[in-house]
Amino acid sequence: QNESTVTITVLGASGDLAKKKIFPALFALYYEDCLPKHFTIFGFARTKMTHAELRTMISKTLTCRIDKRENCDKKMDKFLDRCFYHSGQYDSQEDFAELNRKMREHEGGRVSNRLFYLSIPPNIFTEAVRCASQSASSVNGWTRVIVEKPFGRDSESSAALTKTLKQYLLEDQIFRIDHYLGKELVENLSIMRFSNLIFEPLWSRQYIRNVQLIFSEDFGTEGRGGYFDNYGIIRDIMQNHLLQILALFAMETPVSLDAEDIRNEKVKVLRSMRPLSLEDVVIGQYKSHTKGRTTYPGYTDDTTVPKDSLTPTFAAAALFIDNARWDGVPFLMKAGKALHNKIAEIRVQFRHVPGNLYNRNFGTDLDRATNELVIRVQPDEAIYLKINNKIPGLGMRLDRSYLNLHYAARYSKEIPDAYERLLLDAIEGERRLFIRSDELNAAWSLFTPVLKELEKKKIIPEYYPYGSRGPVGAHYLAARYNVRWGDIGSEQ
Ligand code: BG6
Repeated sequence: QNESTVTITVLGASGDLAKKKIFPALFALYYEDCLPKHFTIFGFARTKMTHAELRTMISKTLTCRIDKRENCDKKMDKFLDRCFYHSGQYDSQEDFAELNRKMREHEGGRVSNRLFYLSIPPNIFTEAVRCASQSASSVNGWTRVIVEKPFGRDSESSAALTKTLKQYLLEDQIFRIDHYLGKELVENLSIMRFSNLIFEPLWSRQYIRNVQLIFSEDFGTEGRGGYFDNYGIIRDIMQNHLLQILALFAMETPVSLDAEDIRNEKVKVLRSMRPLSLEDVVIGQYKSHTKGRTTYPGYTDDTTVPKDSLTPTFAAAALFIDNARWDGVPFLMKAGKALHNKIAEIRVQFRHVPGNLYNRNFGTDLDRATNELVIRVQPDEAIYLKINNKIPGLGMRLDRSYLNLHYAARYSKEIPDAYERLLLDAIEGERRLFIRSDELNAAWSLFTPVLKELEKKKIIPEYYPYGSRGPVGAHYLAARYNVRWGDIGSEQ
């Protein structure tokens, strides 16, 4: 094993994702001694840059774990020494052949494994993959390619992309990232369900009234309007991040922890889902809002966004899984930009206690105050369960309390970034957290009809002020299924 090398090439090295996420994650892995002994990192982009310039650029975003600051600078220097820059065109065989020559020098005759991270716009995916596979593949080790969404914008374009990628790569060389799968609490979902006795028996229509998947950001799309306008929030967040969480949440027990077994179960859930209908979707777009002396821009104030854009920056949807376990249980999703807070969470609302003794004395309020399990993916990771509890004292008064697993209080360790987990898995060939092509197809089948209808009928989004709680339509949608969003109201 010591005699093999890994070369990681980040295509799009000067882009935002590379600077903010990929290089810092690689450094964190190095810092934790998780990278193989012989590794080299290449930044690849069109801009002309020297190795030193690349290193200076990267060094600005590297950080050490809060609890492990010793030797930080030394480690950073050592890491940067292993980073090199290669400037080239993404569609040039010669430029990739030149990269190949440089890689071989570093590999020094050892078994060479090569990982390419495509942090580039989707319209150049195919060309870059063609050149990388034809001119810079490993001859004696593995070659893997990490791709990041957008994987097309509907079923057809996604299938076309997969087909072209497969001209140059085998399915098991393609690592499709959904970075939400690398988040600690999303990964923990299966542990929670399958290695505790108390949750799994309740995990069905019999006890669960509804499930809510909520994503909200307190900033807009400023600076990303050009990308975002072609996709919108449903493609940006729901079709991938929230749907992936839903699949993990709702899947049956896999045969084993093997990637194929887990992904088989996820696909089954997706294929059991009812295609989303327009009546079950609410869309919104944020508009400018002035608070005190500050004016927050509306979505279409971004110069890269057309003034008459109907692209949703908010969406709420009700989805259903037509299988025995989940028949009739609404899975409500809500995702939005420029809202009042930044949070990602899963809320599980349980049914009421049949014949609840305490209703007689305490009215039906308690009946409504059913148990709710909240998995807060971020920020401030936590898992808590809302329960009814007696207020201590001689009287008999009840209130809503919390059984709370607050990560910061329980674990002193800093939680690794999702990209660390995913990059490490890609290097180790662990595919569990990456999206297989049939999963991707199933995900698109669910959303494509409604996305097309929204565009064809030019449905006008409900406008909501920047920094608000989003369109009121989301409440009506939930109410139609007798659901109240759990994130509304005071808590914790
Ligand atoms: C990305 C979306 O996939 O996820 C962005 O394209 C979004 O629009 C981001 O801001 C959110 O990721 P995180 O990890 O910051 O919650």
